[in-house]
Amino acid sequence: MKLFVQTMGCAMNERDSAHMIAELQTKLNYTLTDNLKEADLILINTCSVREKPEKKLFSEIGAFAKIKKQGAKIGVCGCSASHLGEEIIKKAPSVDFVLGARNVSKITQVLFQPKAVEVDIDYDDSTYIFAYSQSMNIKSTLNISIGCDKKCSYCIVPFTRGKEISIPTDLLLKEATNLVQNGTKELLLLGQNVNNYGVRFSHPHPKTNFTELLRRLSEIEGLYRIRFTSPHPLHMDDEFLEEFASNARIAKALHIPLQSGSSRVLKMMKRGYSKEWYLSRIAKLKSLLPNVGIGTDIIVGFPTESQADFEDTMEVLKIAEFDTLYSFIYSPRPNTSAYSYDKSMLIEPEVAKERLARLQALHKDILRKKAREEIGHTHEVLIENHRDDKEHCFSEGRSSNNKLIKIKGIKCPIGSIAQVKITENEGGSLIGEFIKELSLESALKLNTPKAAYAQ
Ligand code: 5AD
Ligand code: SF4
Repeated sequence: MKLFVQTMGCAMNERDSAHMIAELQTKLNYTLTDNLKEADLILINTCSVREKPEKKLFSEIGAFAKIKKQGAKIGVCGCSASHLGEEIIKKAPSVDFVLGARNVSKITQVLFQPKAVEVDIDYDDSTYIFAYSQSMNIKSTLNISIGCDKKCSYCIVPFTRGKEISIPTDLLLKEATNLVQNGTKELLLLGQNVNNYGVRFSHPHPKTNFTELLRRLSEIEGLYRIRFTSPHPLHMDDEFLEEFASNARIAKALHIPLQSGSSRVLKMMKRGYSKEWYLSRIAKLKSLLPNVGIGTDIIVGFPTESQADFEDTMEVLKIAEFDTLYSFIYSPRPNTSAYSYDKSMLIEPEVAKERLARLQALHKDILRKKAREEIGHTHEVLIENHRDDKEHCFSEGRSSNNKLIKIKGIKCPIGSIAQVKITENEGGSLIGEFIKELSLESALKLNTPKAAYAQ
């Protein structure tokens, strides 16, 4: 039996797809295909965070239904499945089942229930042990919590993924150890709000928090790096930032979703912090780790956003000098509190588009400047890929601060750690020359604030 999976949206959705694939491969002997026409089962794992992709869902189902082989099943999973539920089958009768983002552990059951709609957002699979993925990798992801308790006024996620529940620490330690024993060098911890870890478990559980979880995970022998996404700026206290900086197993890159640089807009967004608090976190982080990589998400054109509010966002961009930026135009989403705002509060699409273009242009300039400044610096690169162009071969991987680095003229073993000196920049990306291979122990010694200053 062949399985075709299309995944939209965030890293959480990627992880959910990987879980469903592992369940289907292990328990029902499915094999993956990227040829839709030969698939016996087609899964569309959807995102509902913005309106446009959700609108496209139905034309996509129609297109898939036309080319699929006879008897092949179509399942719609993920956040739009949670959000639209039964409506999907009513509007698109070719769909065989609907499986919400909070219900992916039921994938092997719904397959045998014609027209099943499993979208309960109170369903708790925080202690469900998914089948292990058959494609072991040097980089693996680990869900540490499900759902989200925040009620940011623009965000549909609490209505698609339900309330936040943390996965028990001992289960996480067990799974992480297993992944590392099977070749994982870098672990990406996932949650809607990772640094809120430990606030609620489904069963009695010793008191713990995210900083403690990081400490425990970093005791795993053989693990090189821990990354995580996304933390909430509100919960970034000094204890957390100090652990982040000083723990050698934590990669020195942090995604800190800003959303807006205007304290007034942040209040309307119900983010719980101000521009000043956000900038204080950036300042603390940069004082601990001058070479830290920082990423962010920004929404422009939130209802009532004035030119002055937008300039506040631009100012934060200039100060923080983000290394990665995901930027979006505000999209009204049902159920959210901002959805009920008066229409007069909405920002003209042309104005929002222009703001987005200005924001992205500034970010590009910052990236170019930062890439030029990298020349001459050294990084430790965990090798992920090999690539060739007409003249050279390259090894490719990421530095601790999450820069994509190409190493010219050498094929380092996948999973090895190379010390690299940056020699050129191609726009925002970096090219370097191989210095030497590092042992895990010596690479870890370099991943500390002191070593970061020296570089
Ligand atoms: N409109 C536009 N962008 C949104 N995001 C979340 N909700 C919306 C919305 N209604 C963005 C936020 C979030 C990212 C995953 O998507 O920036 O961090
Ligand atoms: Fe991920 Fe949010 Fe999109 Fe769901 S709605 S897939 S949680 S980004």
